[in-house]
Amino acid sequence: MASFTRIEESETPSIIVHPTHKLAKIDDNIYGGFTEHMGRCIYGGIYEPGSPLSDENGFRKDVIEAMKDLRVPVVRYPGGNFVATYHWLDGVGPVENRPKRPELAWLGVEPNTFGTDEFMKWCEVVGTEPYLCLNFGTGTLDEALGWLEYCNSEQDTYYANLRRKNGREKPYNVKYWALGNECWGPWQVEQMTKEDYAKKAYQWAKAMKLQDPTVTLILCGETGYSSWDYYVLKECVRWDVHGLSGDTTKSLIDMHSIHIYTADKDHLVNATAPRAAERAIQMTSALIDLARIENNVPTSVPKQTICFDEWNVWDPVRAPGEKGAEEKYSLSDALAVSVFLNGFIRQAANMGMANIAQSVNVISPLMTSKDGLVKQTIWWPLLLFAKYMRGHSIALNIRSPEYTGRTEPKWIRAAIETPYLDSSAGIDNKGYVSLAVTNVHEQKDFEVSLDGVKEGDVKVYTVSGDNVSVVNTAEEQNVGVVESSWDGKGAFTFKKHSFTMLRWKA
Ligand code: AHR
Repeated sequence: MASFTRIEESETPSIIVHPTHKLAKIDDNIYGGFTEHMGRCIYGGIYEPGSPLSDENGFRKDVIEAMKDLRVPVVRYPGGNFVATYHWLDGVGPVENRPKRPELAWLGVEPNTFGTDEFMKWCEVVGTEPYLCLNFGTGTLDEALGWLEYCNSEQDTYYANLRRKNGREKPYNVKYWALGNECWGPWQVEQMTKEDYAKKAYQWAKAMKLQDPTVTLILCGETGYSSWDYYVLKECVRWDVHGLSGDTTKSLIDMHSIHIYTADKDHLVNATAPRAAERAIQMTSALIDLARIENNVPTSVPKQTICFDEWNVWDPVRAPGEKGAEEKYSLSDALAVSVFLNGFIRQAANMGMANIAQSVNVISPLMTSKDGLVKQTIWWPLLLFAKYMRGHSIALNIRSPEYTGRTEPKWIRAAIETPYLDSSAGIDNKGYVSLAVTNVHEQKDFEVSLDGVKEGDVKVYTVSGDNVSVVNTAEEQNVGVVESSWDGKGAFTFKKHSFTMLRWKA
């Protein structure tokens, strides 16, 4: 939580940090990833058998190292839109027997040489948890239950035995399962009305929990501020369900998924667009409260959290999905990504997970080629957050001038402020405070009076570049992290179009 006071551009901005005012636990899962069978994300991204850059499993080692640098806690798979025609059985067993299928989300051919067991193995090598999304398009409930049994069952039953036959004795214990993806979207195979979706999600969720009561189920929301979100939450956030009934600590649905992509050609519109994400989180949280109140959910049932399982800068016209959505990210986009992340930290109390879309090659911070890996501009703020902004969010008071021009979407202007200085802060379990400050102004450095910073050794990590349009390529790394230090005394200057993280021991 941060308080914001708007000041004139002629005044001196200030930030007061309160390291002793912990607000909420920052769930590590907000630094989650997402790998979809789309473009070069799986094939040529995380999986490239035969490449000198791959290991004995065919996994790209440079990608694995990057995932480890981010300490990615959870990775969503196999889609995305792809999942609406995916049959998991096609992707298990001897590779030579696996069928090739037409792929209807991105209009390609799916070879199925990478499937559940390969993904689970990759997760083990990376040290991350799998998060699987169910096929709510052409899939059946039987198939979904079979997948759950294959992944999690220890019983002597058909799909658990199939897993054993395929070489894996122990269950994978997949905790996170999504009840479909963007089922509301007109691009979806088997697009649904909210009424049809809610009815189906309720029944599938009940069956999934009867088979494995330990799973965390994620409801398919939209943006978090639509009538779809209201309706499906109202119908599915329940505890009085057969199989759960009587237990006042459990509910049918554990998380609600929302997706937001932002982008604009004008820098300030682009960099402030992720303010919509923070407002969306607030609105979703209110809708969850409303569903609980209307459904008389006992307070002993933990509040459902938000699973922001697709977020990033993406313009699908500039980088079409059918062509692999290989966005080239500018410094402006890196600042936008830091504004998304600041919002997740300020809203830590509501956030159970977030997954940058996507982890490799497709609208991604990481781009592979046959020769190596390029870290795009957006990688750097993400890395700093993932490395340092852990533990608990802490209180902040910010006084800053505000950008008052056009916003995208338009409703941002009336719903939430768009300061030039966007900031969040946290304290980790070793007592290190991280203060993140994004200065989105294209021309102006801001000298900021900082209160609450401990004098002494303050580490400074800055992400910036010559101008907001610069990008990183294999030949030229125009944007990276510059490290310096500061004595913590007096004011600190946050340079124009920069992201800065200050870090000190409280
Ligand atoms: O991440 C790319 C696509 O964007 C996903 O497949 C879909 O869920 C969303 O529309």
